[in-house]
Amino acid sequence: MSWVFRTMTFALVVSMPTMPAFAQQTAPQPERVRELVHLVRQDCGSCHGLTLQGGLGPALTVAALREKPRDSLVATILGGRPGTPMPPFRGIVVEDEAAWIVERLQEGFPVDAGAAR
Ligand code: HEC
Repeated sequence: MSWVFRTMTFALVVSMPTMPAFAQQTAPQPERVRELVHLVRQDCGSCHGLTLQGGLGPALTVAALREKPRDSLVATILGGRPGTPMPPFRGIVVEDEAAWIVERLQEGFPVDAGAAR
């Protein structure tokens, strides 16, 4: 029966290169996306303003973040900013999710579809 295994392995190896290059960062699933949007709008929004225009924390708008290095913003979300009220979110979001949040913030954060519920 090892030919079955060989055929499957072959199919896997052959299909790999057809996956887009940007797939190296795992995109969150739709249900998790809804949770992340809700988290940013509500929890992050409690400091950064409900429209993310700034409050206790600075604005998280496209204009404010577009030019900033992505890695340092991801590090800020995961590790917080010691000595400031910005708390660490490691444990609440994984690194890929923090990267996903930063990418969305830099292009305009989606509205929270769950907020109306
Ligand atoms: C308790 C308040 C608070 C919460 C909650 C909070 N932040 Fe912050 N955040 C801050 C403050 C204050 C700063 C500014 C820190 C400094 O002075 O460098 C900051 C800074 C940042 C920065 C850096 C901005 C820049 O221009 O460099 C990012 C990005 C950020 N927060 C994202 C988030 C995200 C995403 C969340 C939710 C997952 C979040 N924050 C939740 C208070 C908060």
